[in-house]
Amino acid sequence: MQIQSSFSLKKFNTFGIDQTAEAFVSVQTEEALKEALALKEFPTKFILGGGSNLLLTRPIKGLCIHINTKGIRLIKETKNAVIVEAMAGENWHDFVNWSISQGYGGMENLSLIPGNVGTAAIQNIGAYGVELKDIFDSCSAIALSDLQEIEFSLEEADFDYRSSAFKTSAKGKYVITRLRVCLTKENHKLNTDYGAIKEALGDLEPNPKNIAAAVISIRQSKLPDPKEIGNSGSFFKNPVVSLSHFSQLQKKYPTIPSYPVNKTQVKIPAGWLIDCLNFKGYREGDAGVHKNQALVLVNYGSASGNQILSLAQKIQRKVKEEFDIWLEAEVNII
Ligand code: EPU
Repeated sequence: MQIQSSFSLKKFNTFGIDQTAEAFVSVQTEEALKEALALKEFPTKFILGGGSNLLLTRPIKGLCIHINTKGIRLIKETKNAVIVEAMAGENWHDFVNWSISQGYGGMENLSLIPGNVGTAAIQNIGAYGVELKDIFDSCSAIALSDLQEIEFSLEEADFDYRSSAFKTSAKGKYVITRLRVCLTKENHKLNTDYGAIKEALGDLEPNPKNIAAAVISIRQSKLPDPKEIGNSGSFFKNPVVSLSHFSQLQKKYPTIPSYPVNKTQVKIPAGWLIDCLNFKGYREGDAGVHKNQALVLVNYGSASGNQILSLAQKIQRKVKEEFDIWLEAEVNII
């Protein structure tokens, strides 16, 4: 097991923040993962996946374990469906591409989301009307307390908007090792409700392959590629407000968009609120708000985690002042 000390995590977080881990190890097998978790000389352990939902504001104490396990396999097949298992360290988009190349449906709307398979479940990643929970079958994890393997069903994973048991009741207690999704072989349940998808599809047949291509082109036109400019996707969650609060806001802002949540609440796009305050393209040193999507904070090069955080806090304060809404970070701030 190769443990490196004082290791720069710059290449291991999509924000490109230059923070170090006191010790770092990349594990390629579950056995190596268990071995690393059992190391007594590092009582504190930090689990790192794709680093795509992470803002590092301080050095990581103890051992940073980078999950780099790979593999995708078909584990069950019926006339119309398959269950496919991917290892936690697989890149999410590679997994989507693999499923599309096999002709399976279910993951197409989740194309090009940065990050790895394991963290996708923690976040309940979602885009264009589909969330991971819609295709989730189950996942395997290792309990940090006794290193025993445990399986989580859909119910136990307790998914919610950008949330799961791994972010709430089970937070910090498990390392996800494998994810199983249920995909369709035919009679796909396609989701093209998102206006932009219909537009990008044009006259093309709506099938998983064409929808994936449409989603990729939409994302590429709006969202910065972390390989070119550091970012973590949406920095904030879209806030949910009461209908009475919303109708107050509508008086001042008649065009304010919203999505229904239930009979008493609506969700408002945080990007719209931030954009309304003219933050799009705003910059403080190397920390900025993306020019095409106000919900995405970016690192133009050498911003520190604290510079990004202080910009995020400024946005939170301004949004609170103007709309009486507190934006909650979607990104995990360490
Ligand atoms: N909007 C603006 N200005 C902006 C950004 C957005 O006015 O700068 C408005 C848009 O015009 C639109 C609305 O806000 O009316 C919604 O925008 P968009 O469709 O871009 O989606 P979003 O709500 O900003 C969410 C997810 C994204 C996901 C898209 C598409 C969250 C926090 N974000 O963004 O997920 O790709 O929907 O489904 O729910 C991510 O989580 O990292 C992420 C990128």
